[in-house]
Amino acid sequence: EEQLIIVGPDVKIATATSIAENFRLSKSSLGVVLLRKRLDISEMSEAIRAGIREVVSIDDAASLVAACKRSLAISRQLSDLGQLAPNHSGRGKILMVFSAKGGSGKTALAINLAQALSMDTDKKVVLMDLDLQFGDIAISMGIEPKKTISDAISMQNEIDELATSSLLTSYNKNLDLLLAPSNPTDVEYISSHLISKVIENLRMSHDYLVIDTSPTFTETILDTLDQADRIFLMTTLDMPSIKNLKLVVETLQAMNIPDNKLEFILNRSDLDTGLNIREVEAMLGHVFSTLIPSNTQVPASTNRGIPLVLSDPSNNVSRVITNLAKRTDALMSSVDSAPTQNTRAVS
Ligand SMILES: Nc1ncnc2c1ncn2[C@@H]1O[C@H](COP(=O)(O)OP(=O)(O)O)[C@@H](O)[C@H]1O
Ligand SMILES: [Mg+2]
Repeated sequence: EEQLIIVGPDVKIATATSIAENFRLSKSSLGVVLLRKRLDISEMSEAIRAGIREVVSIDDAASLVAACKRSLAISRQLSDLGQLAPNHSGRGKILMVFSAKGGSGKTALAINLAQALSMDTDKKVVLMDLDLQFGDIAISMGIEPKKTISDAISMQNEIDELATSSLLTSYNKNLDLLLAPSNPTDVEYISSHLISKVIENLRMSHDYLVIDTSPTFTETILDTLDQADRIFLMTTLDMPSIKNLKLVVETLQAMNIPDNKLEFILNRSDLDTGLNIREVEAMLGHVFSTLIPSNTQVPASTNRGIPLVLSDPSNNVSRVITNLAKRTDALMSSVDSAPTQNTRAVS
């Protein structure tokens, strides 16, 4: 794999710096060494600012060899680190599934979305169970939890990337799980600060964090919603769900979360409940991007402990969620992620 680029003396300084800047973002282990006919202090400092490792005079062969050796040594170190953190931007995208009502299908969506993203894209995905008291990702995926977020309690402030990766349960090559505590009372010791540190670390090592939630506005969930790149708001076709969804939308607006991060998902959309989708959209003032049909295979797959998109990719629910995953991946690949600073206005 390429680790070194030598830019010749006739290349303009502006071109050389833009080459270096591009690589700094897309491939930080690659080193750029710049050759110049004569060394100019202002050009050299411009080059170094752009991330060019060394500037060498064209007629100093010994310095060029030494510069290349140093650059290669740095590259090797950086690519070793990169094994730990393949996502150099450190900006894995946070995809959060939320609703203010239990039973709306959050967990079913989170599991299948994470599985679909990990299959259909070659990206690293972590599925995080932020239903800290009654999380059921482990049981729904047929996992006997050995490691959970509770193992982070003793680490608190020292939790770094390596410690965070030790909390993960590998599900398949591209999908890791961060499971909820086995003991519901542990939640008391899991601060929103700890969770946000864990999330920051996971953003370094994974492309996508799919987060399942409890139907409550805890401090942890509010903080995470604030950081999310995309929020999937779920409802079913019943008045209590729709009333609560409206309250959620108002709360997110009060938190200054932009509308364009929200995506409205109607689950069990084909059940005849006496409510019509159009009317519900009018009540909400938002349209549904995704309609997930009702299918008995959804609870059956939960009981088997295998995500439906894996066991039956041609099932109609699987197809809808796979499309959602593909569309989300395309969207997230085309936009920059959310700013890291806290924009929350209420708590
Ligand atoms: N589209 C669907 N069709 C049929 N059953 C579903 C569907 N989505 C969810 N369910 C079932 O509804 C129940 C609640 O879903 P779940 O994902 O646990 O909701 P939540 O996490 O919001 O509480 C589960 O038994 C689940 O299998
Ligand atoms: Mg759930």
